[in-house]
Amino acid sequence: MEEQISKIKRVAIEEASKATSAKELDEVKVKYLGKKGELTAILRGMGSLSPEERPVIGSKVNEAREQIERLIKEREEEFAKQELERKLQEEKIDITLPSTKVKRGSKHPLNRIIEEVEDLFVSMGYDVVTGPELETDEYCFERLNLPKGHPARDMQDSFYITSEYLLRTQTSAVQARTMMANTEKTPIRVICPGKTYRRDDDATHSHQFSQVEGLVVDKNISLADLKGTLEVFVRKLLGENLQLRFRPSYFPFTEPSYEVDVSCFKCGGKGCNLCKQTGWIEVLGSGIVHPNVLKMGGYDPEIYSGFAFGTGLDRIAMFKYGITDIRLLYQNDVRFLNQFDRLDR
Ligand code: DAH
Repeated sequence: MEEQISKIKRVAIEEASKATSAKELDEVKVKYLGKKGELTAILRGMGSLSPEERPVIGSKVNEAREQIERLIKEREEEFAKQELERKLQEEKIDITLPSTKVKRGSKHPLNRIIEEVEDLFVSMGYDVVTGPELETDEYCFERLNLPKGHPARDMQDSFYITSEYLLRTQTSAVQARTMMANTEKTPIRVICPGKTYRRDDDATHSHQFSQVEGLVVDKNISLADLKGTLEVFVRKLLGENLQLRFRPSYFPFTEPSYEVDVSCFKCGGKGCNLCKQTGWIEVLGSGIVHPNVLKMGGYDPEIYSGFAFGTGLDRIAMFKYGITDIRLLYQNDVRFLNQFDRLDR
């Protein structure tokens, strides 16, 4: 019996050493140590042994079992290690290979300007508000002191949808909306960037364009506040050293009204093709909010005053980035838009 055990052990160890794969090794394991394995069979047959023989044979079997198990375990680890090595080699990534190019869009020049304007005014305590692009005649004109039949309506060629609804021609409509929405009639400090529409189409006018409106209503608001605010606005956006010129003008919703020019940032005011040899470029409409507008908005003009301004964001973008045709801003041509990629790098 003892000899049989030694033989099983010897052969098992030999086979386990010779196994060339994890699978072969597993077969050896089953053959000798498994439920129906040879060593297990001997243990099962122990019942027929004499009580003296039992512990001797028992310990021999266990010793053989342990040795075989140890070897198999060692070899299993060996195979596992080999397998891991193989996988690592096989799945090695060559980091020197060129990568697949990730196509990334760039921020639209108008959105760049809008974000810059928003950041600036938010830093001065303004809220950013929005309004509908499909607007009523009432908010787009009437509440801005432009009753039906007012000749100044001709300044803006409008897209009427019905006799009541139109695509808003100016973000000024949001002035009236903001005053009406503020039911407590507390002070107002807002800007509203957004799309506007007019029946225009040439190199400097598009049927769809973008404006930003500003409105401040409070006690004791004066022209000095308007001037100071617009100086900060224009200089931060277009250049610290620019000069501003306030030219009297006419808008139905402000009195007095001003058009604001900046000294030409291309020629510094000497005169060039950009400023049409005048040294100045018109950038803004502005003024002190007309008492009628305040009244219609529910604010008592005896107590409250305010200033407002509106500017075309397309023009600002064109000046700032040297864009010569406004329509480029709306055609979604990647060859144009890609160029703004570089500004992020
Ligand atoms: N809404 C005017 C336009 O589109 C611009 C404007 C002028 C806005 C004067 C204002 C303002 O708020 O006070 O031509």
